[in-house]
Amino acid sequence: MRFRTSGLMVAVFILGLLANASAAQKAQKKNKPKGPPKPPLGLPAIEWPKDNPYSPAKAQLGRLLYFDTRLSSDDTVSCATCHDPSMAFTDNAPVSTGIGGQKGGRSAPTVINRAYSTLQFWDGRAASLEEQAIGPIANPVEMTNIKDPDKAHAAIVAKLKKIPGYVRRFKRVFGTADFTIEHVGKAIATFERTVLSGNSPYDRYKAGDKSALTAAQIRGLKLFEGKAKCAECHSGFNFTDESFVNIGIGMDKPNPDLGRYVVTKEEEDKGAFKVPTLREIEHTAPYMHDGSLKTLEEVIDYYDRGGNKNPHLDERITPLNLTEQEKKDLVEFMKALSGEGWQHIKAPKKFPK
Ligand code: HEC
Ligand code: HEC
Repeated sequence: MRFRTSGLMVAVFILGLLANASAAQKAQKKNKPKGPPKPPLGLPAIEWPKDNPYSPAKAQLGRLLYFDTRLSSDDTVSCATCHDPSMAFTDNAPVSTGIGGQKGGRSAPTVINRAYSTLQFWDGRAASLEEQAIGPIANPVEMTNIKDPDKAHAAIVAKLKKIPGYVRRFKRVFGTADFTIEHVGKAIATFERTVLSGNSPYDRYKAGDKSALTAAQIRGLKLFEGKAKCAECHSGFNFTDESFVNIGIGMDKPNPDLGRYVVTKEEEDKGAFKVPTLREIEHTAPYMHDGSLKTLEEVIDYYDRGGNKNPHLDERITPLNLTEQEKKDLVEFMKALSGEGWQHIKAPKKFPK
């Protein structure tokens, strides 16, 4: 009897401890600063804009909006239609197809690691991710069929305001149920800044693991930084110096896309496009602003022959005289830039009602 009572008391005591521990855990979870995800190896910390800091609820709202086809006029197209996580956040097409099957003039770049750039689009016409995110919503070949951008934005915001689940979420994240297209842009941009790629074989090699790259990839890295001059433009941790350069793509066409020139109207910007990141490049074919090169081998051949001659061709683009082995090594090296930090992102199972 004595034993039983004390046994019971011990059980009660232990239960009490457990209950206390889980209450303490809960309290701890609540008080724990919910910081943004830590970037994978090889990537620096993200600079969150002062006027749009990270919060988990905002990133989650952005994710819902990113995948929601109701952001288009006919409920058929979402951001993920052209920047699909299963295709490394591109659409693997030379040019993208928007509402009503309309085709745009440029290839969809990846959303991965956009957190590290200020200027967005091939021509840099958006000054931030926040500004970029609201662009497609008002683009008559992408998500809405309304020509006037202000009216297109107003129509989509009015549509979202009819969905109580969204109104509640916007109120929680931004403190107002009377949200605007700018709030939509801020939420989507916050989500986009969590789409990262690092910890690739290249990053592990740089961090001291000399077995992370194959012999061919190590030779490719040397070529990339040396004879092939790739690192002249594709430099730094994100493999871009963020400049706009004419490497001749499309300049052999009768009416070429003039790229950066359309934004700046500076003569020297004719045919210049943003130097894109090369992270995950193995997974984002076809290549270049017009999707004209289908494989990494074609890209190397293009550089090897010195690009398409035109009056504004960058002087660093010259014939490289690479051997067949060197071309292969460069391709192998680019495959060492596939990493992680984005594969876990999937479309939500349920959307706000
Ligand atoms: C119909 C296809 C399509 C849809 C829908 C679409 N995009 Fe894009 N996206 C593109 C294309 C094409 C470009 C390149 C356009 C250019 O540079 O002029 C682009 C460019 C971008 C860029 C710039 C990347 C860079 O490297 O500069 C980001 C970021 C982006 N889109 C995010 C989004 C978001 C967020 C949405 C949803 C609100 C969205 N896109 C909807 C096709 C699409
Ligand atoms: C003078 C600057 C410069 C040099 C040097 C350079 N690139 Fe590029 N690279 C660019 C620009 C700009 C683009 C985009 C051009 C366009 O779409 O019109 C680009 C695009 C690419 C792309 C396609 C990316 C995508 O997402 O579509 C790959 C791959 C690439 N470069 C690899 C290389 C390699 C490999 C080398 C060395 C052999 C190299 N680059 C040398 C500026 C440069």
